[in-house]
Parts: sequence; structure tokens; C-alpha cells
Amino acid sequence: SGTFSEKLRVPEALTFDDVLLRPMESRVEPDDADVATHVSKNVKLEIPILSAAMDTVTESDLAIAMAREGGLGVLHRNMTVEETADEVARVKQAHELVIRRENVVTANPEQTVSDVDKMMGREGVSGAPVVDTDDTVLGIISATDIRPYLEVGESDAVSEAMTDEVITASEDVTAREALELMYDYKIERVPIVDEQSRLVGLVTMQGVLERREHEYAARDESGRLRAGVAVGPFEIDRATAADEAGADVLFIDCAHAHNLNVIDSAREIKSLVDADVVVGNIGTREAAQEIADFADGMKVGIGPGSICTTRVVSGAGMPQITAVSEVADVASKHGIPVIADGGIRYSGDAIKAIAAGADAVMLGSYFAGTDEAPGRVITMNGKRYKQYRGMGSVGAMKSGGGDRYLKDADEEDEFVPEGVEAATPYKGTLASELHQLVGGMKSGMGYVGAETVPEVKAAARFVRVSAAGQTEGHPHDVMITDEAPNYSPQNE
Ligand code: XMP
Repeated sequence: SGTFSEKLRVPEALTFDDVLLRPMESRVEPDDADVATHVSKNVKLEIPILSAAMDTVTESDLAIAMAREGGLGVLHRNMTVEETADEVARVKQAHELVIRRENVVTANPEQTVSDVDKMMGREGVSGAPVVDTDDTVLGIISATDIRPYLEVGESDAVSEAMTDEVITASEDVTAREALELMYDYKIERVPIVDEQSRLVGLVTMQGVLERREHEYAARDESGRLRAGVAVGPFEIDRATAADEAGADVLFIDCAHAHNLNVIDSAREIKSLVDADVVVGNIGTREAAQEIADFADGMKVGIGPGSICTTRVVSGAGMPQITAVSEVADVASKHGIPVIADGGIRYSGDAIKAIAAGADAVMLGSYFAGTDEAPGRVITMNGKRYKQYRGMGSVGAMKSGGGDRYLKDADEEDEFVPEGVEAATPYKGTLASELHQLVGGMKSGMGYVGAETVPEVKAAARFVRVSAAGQTEGHPHDVMITDEAPNYSPQNE
């Protein structure tokens, strides 16, 4: 029972540009900083980065690239439930150490050598296990075995040319064990067999080397890449399909998860799936309290996104640094990881979000310009761009997605969008963008003297920045002649 004028005695809410990290005593060299973190109670990542569930950002190609670099891609949901299951399967099956039986090219012993030669050329492989009709492994044939026969014995049977002393391994073989076999026996592929010597898969040298190259990749217990999936709060079918397809984390994808119907449904989804369930988006401590009993993670962001018009359209929102800190106050008491989603333009913003209490950050615009993001490169006035649009934009809603923002509209002019359609500069590979992002965050860890993500959360302090201080912080009084890989004045 206050007065209206009392309502205007309001707390201040801050965002990225309002604050800077206070430089502190340090022995931390940025290269030694450890950025491993949890995105949800049971999922740990080597880098604290997620890609946004948007149809111009994360489909399986980008999700695979994210997981290989150690982060997590969150597949968007502007697609059918079947397509979601397929996309999850594509990520989970990408770069598996053991190629599954159905994807292994095999030969049969009665085939002719020239026949197998053609088949291997067509399939783009340089060797194939030779199997009986019941899949018993009889031998293995490679281009090297075939070569001497091509002159004289093209019509000889494969059983003549193949190597019949095959080195095999069982399904639980590790990359190291497979590599040892390959070195010891000077072979490039090891068929994987069950107890009856039947073929169940194949490990190749290429597969082992690829595994070594991405030692920080985000993998589940059985070594498959991790996949995140966005599901609508009421999409029980998408949630269970994604879970069955092997999704590691489901993200309840809602613009205002402090809606009690949304929370009821999210709680039901949590009870039906094995995957972790991250609930969002929220931006206040009250919302965090409401979901703390069941959420495996909390995602924060009410209107900070680069393509987002929620705050101007609805008049509601929470500046992101304050929002993250309020949610983290509650989440940290319950051991629940917090993800800061939206508004991150620079690596400095990302480490500020962590200092404010986040365990990981989610970015959309930062990744939309990469090769792995959906969509093609367009050229305007000699500069290259890729499309980037809000999931609450007219375009995204029209193509089926944005029920996150949709109020019962079936006609286009009835949409009340909360996002815009835009273009973002083309940026090259995801790996190079991530390198800049993570490198900048580690640099921040050096300045605050924190060696790990939990240390940043605990020890980092902020100072408030004035408008003049902010101008001082960007390049000023010069004309930039060469664009830096991690700073573009267009971002301002
Ligand atoms: P950035 O700043 O990284 O933000 O591009 C990505 C995040 O923005 C959110 N998002 C939207 N917010 N209207 C909104 O208000 C929209 O149309 C929209 N689409 C995406 C989302 O949380 C995403 O991760």
C-alpha cells in the first residue's frame, strides 16, 4: 500500500557497458587459465560457451563444430519433431570413434576384385572388411591388397586377394588402444566385432587422429559429441523425441519462463526425460526461486539480445548484468549452473557475465556470421554478410518457429514481433571466432587474478563506468585502418 510516486524510488539495474572488472593482484597467465565449467548439473564443458537456439545460428553443422571445440550447440526448434530427432542423431553420430555397422562399407568374399575396387572408389574408402552373409568377419581388403590383381587377376574372387588374418577389437576399445594396434600391426583400420566375431563397427586411423586433434571436445560418457536442444515449454513430444535421440541437455525455450503454466509444464518435462533440463529465460530472483526445486540449469536474458525488441515492444526487461546476479544469488545456493543468454558483443562482455555470477554464456549474433551457421553468404556494397534474425521476428514466426513470442496470430499482419531480421558480417570459421572469444575471456581472468571459472565468480569485483569512461574504453580519436579480429566498430 504505497503511493504511486513511491514506485519510482527504483533500484538501478546495470548491464555490460555500465561496469568493468576491477584489475586485481594476479599471478595468472591467461594461457594457464582454466575455463572449464558446468552448463547444467550433470554436463561439464571445457569452454563456457553455448550457441543460441536460433534458426540462423544452430543446426547440426554448428552444433558439431561447437562440441568439437569444447562448447555446446543448442539446436533451434523451427523444425518438425522428426527433424529435431534427426538433427540430434547427426550430432551424436558425428566423428564417432567407432563407425557403426550400417555405415561401414563391406565386401563379400565372392565378389570380384575389380568389382570391389570400383565399389571402394564409389564409396570413397580405401579398405573394407570382408564379411559372410551373417556378418562374420572373414578378412579385410585394402587398395594395397588389390593393386597386384588389377593387371592380371581382375576377375579373381575377393577371398583370394584379401588379408585373412584380421586384427579386430571389441566395442569398448579406446582411441589409444586402437592406435596401438594400428602401429603394432601397421594397419589403418580395425574391424570391431562382437563375441561371435560378427562385424559391429570399424575404427579407422583417420578417426583416431581426429579424436586426438580435438582433445577438449564436449563428449558424453560413451564418447559421443554433446548436443543441446531447445524445446517449447509445452512441447512434450519434442522433448521426449530429443531425449530418446540422445540429447544431453534440453533447454525450455521461453521468453518469459516465470509464467506459472510454463513452469508446471517444464516440471513435467523434467520428470519424463533423462537429459538435463535447463529452464529459461528468466531475469529475477523471484523467478529463480520458483524453478530452483527442479531445474538443472537456469538461463538468464529478458531482452538483451542484439536482434531483440522485447524491451521496446513490451516495456519489460532486465539489464543483463543485474539479471544474472539476481538469478545467480538463488542458483548458487542450490548448486544450479547459470547461463547468461544474449547481449554479448565482445569477449569482455562474456567474462563480465561470469563475474556477475554466470557459469557459462550463450551467444547468437557472435556466431551467426560463421561458415557453420545456416544460410549463405550475401554481398552488399562489397562487404560479406550472413542473415541473422530474432526467433520472434516476423520471418522466423512465419516459417513456423517463434511460438515463443507468438500470440494467437494466423495472419502475418497480426503478428506482434519481438525481434528483427538482420544481417551480420561474415566471419569465417567457428573455431577462429571461439579462439578470439575464449582468448579474450582468459585475458580477463589474468587481469582479475582468477585461474578458474568458480574463482572469477567468487573473486572478481566491478567498478561502475560513466558515459565518459565508456567512450575512453573504446578506440577513440583515431581512424581505424585495419580491422582487428576481435573488435569491429560496427558492433558499437
Ligand atoms: P545475441 O545478443 O547473442 O542474443 O544475438 C541471442 C539471444 O537473443 C534471444 N532472442 C530473442 N529475443 N526477440 C527477443 O526478445 C527475439 O526475436 C529473439 N530471438 C532470440 C535468445 O535468447 C538468443 O539466445
